[in-house]
Amino acid sequence: MLPKTQTPHHHPRHSTSRGPSPSLLVFTMLLGFSSGILAGFLYQQHRRIGAGLSPQPEGALPAAWPNPGGAAAGTLAGAQPDLRIVRHDFSGGASSGGASGGASSGAASSGGGSSGGSGAASSSGGGGGASSSGAAAGGGGGGGGGVVRTSHYSNSNRTGLARADAARIGEALKAAARRHKGDTIHTLFTSNGSPYQNIQGRIMYASYKLAQAMPGGEKLTGFTRILHRTTDDAVVGEIPTFRAYPLQPACDTWCEFPVKDRANAVVQWLMAAEGEPSMVKGAWLLMLESDYVWRAPVQAPGDAFDPSVQGLGFVYDYINPAYPTVAPSIVEMCPTCDPEKVPRSGPAPVLIRPHEMAVAAPDWEVYSAWIEGNKRARTNLDWVREMYAWCVAVAVNNVSIAHEAPPASTLLVQPPHDLSAGRAAIYHYTWGSIFKEGEREAWRFDKRDYTAEGDALKVPHFPLPPPWREGAFKLQDGLDVGRSLHETLTDMLTVINRAVDTLPDLTPPA
Ligand SMILES: *[C@@H]1O[C@H](CO)[C@@H](O)[C@H](O)[C@H]1NC(C)=O
Ligand SMILES: *[C@@H]1O[C@H](CO)[C@@H](O)[C@H](O)[C@H]1NC(C)=O
Repeated sequence: MLPKTQTPHHHPRHSTSRGPSPSLLVFTMLLGFSSGILAGFLYQQHRRIGAGLSPQPEGALPAAWPNPGGAAAGTLAGAQPDLRIVRHDFSGGASSGGASGGASSGAASSGGGSSGGSGAASSSGGGGGASSSGAAAGGGGGGGGGVVRTSHYSNSNRTGLARADAARIGEALKAAARRHKGDTIHTLFTSNGSPYQNIQGRIMYASYKLAQAMPGGEKLTGFTRILHRTTDDAVVGEIPTFRAYPLQPACDTWCEFPVKDRANAVVQWLMAAEGEPSMVKGAWLLMLESDYVWRAPVQAPGDAFDPSVQGLGFVYDYINPAYPTVAPSIVEMCPTCDPEKVPRSGPAPVLIRPHEMAVAAPDWEVYSAWIEGNKRARTNLDWVREMYAWCVAVAVNNVSIAHEAPPASTLLVQPPHDLSAGRAAIYHYTWGSIFKEGEREAWRFDKRDYTAEGDALKVPHFPLPPPWREGAFKLQDGLDVGRSLHETLTDMLTVINRAVDTLPDLTPPA
């Protein structure tokens, strides 16, 4: 078993004699957060992450600091007029040709030719989005003449919601959610549209559609990818997409920490949904990440309109707000928070009501930005700092979420960290799996091996583990591969390949 205590903050209590250093394993897992990063980097190189980031002068706080989420009268933006809500152009039917370069403004000023408008906006309900295969050839590849469209896009990364804005948006989203049955779920995930994330995102959406066809799948009433990128990418024709304008346009090609953009992108989506209720496609929102694959439909925990029903979150054992190097930053962000009571979680997977997201996400954004601008927090919270920002936002707003870990979790399971699937609807393949037969590598599956544009356009099949034999294989951390783990990994790869089988080849014709 991979040591449960390995974290950026925890020095492992377990002996490490079984295998690679825990820090390497942590690194391996955390790479999942950074989509532009290629396999093969050394851990030491990744320790640098955060060191070079200074979007704000050291110590500079958001205007309302340190009281986001606090007194009802307070506002996130305080008195600083520049941080008031800004009106974006949330036009439908943004288009960008295959070769269209960086200039998002091109899309922003488009509108021309886009008859798709609100029709496109309401795409993606049931099995929707299955549209064009041939048309999708964006993201610099193709030429091909096809025009790809996002159903909605935002033309600005400026948010700065005041508390009153968040409350107003929350009311609008609450009304929008009322158009759906209380046990329906609208799935969201964020992406920067890199090949690495598109391989995963295509598999995720394809497996979602397979889950939709299973009993209970009819409750999965919507799916939206929130793409934070200046242009459409190669898969906008395939995955229902809202395009947010990124904080870091550099992430279109490469950047160190793409998840820095995530909260801001979700807030842009919320701002857009305020004016366009059809963007809210279920009574619950389910936030996911690209490296998930559905094995069964996620079920709502109950009626979203019954306030006694709690949302659902996931417990990550490497997140610990009470840890000695972490707690001071948690308290700095939220002086009224007891770090022992701040959830050990992150923004995915989370099942939450739209109006709760409207309250939590602006604080998540503020805390994310604050951490980026605070050297100590950035260093100590490290790769998972944006997850901590979410945890504090949930705590400070008293969002009612039940956090569960496997095997209790109905949401997520993470083989080979977890040895069996338990009750989880979704596999998370953030950990790589390597089977060793003596010194020989008998099998491996690691998402970090798949980063090529070619793989994103034509997603390959992944080899299944070799047949199980008693005592034959050891995992990379030395654990004997038992029957249950073997079955679980085999099932995960089978589910992945089943999804891959449904994916069109998007490679542009030569
Ligand atoms: C936001 O977008 C602008 C362009 O509109 C860009 O110059 C800026 O770097 C982006 N990021 C932030 C944090 O404002
Ligand atoms: C959260 O709960 C605490 C304790 O009950 C309360 O003092 C605080 O005002 C609440 N905050 C919000 C934003 O509701």
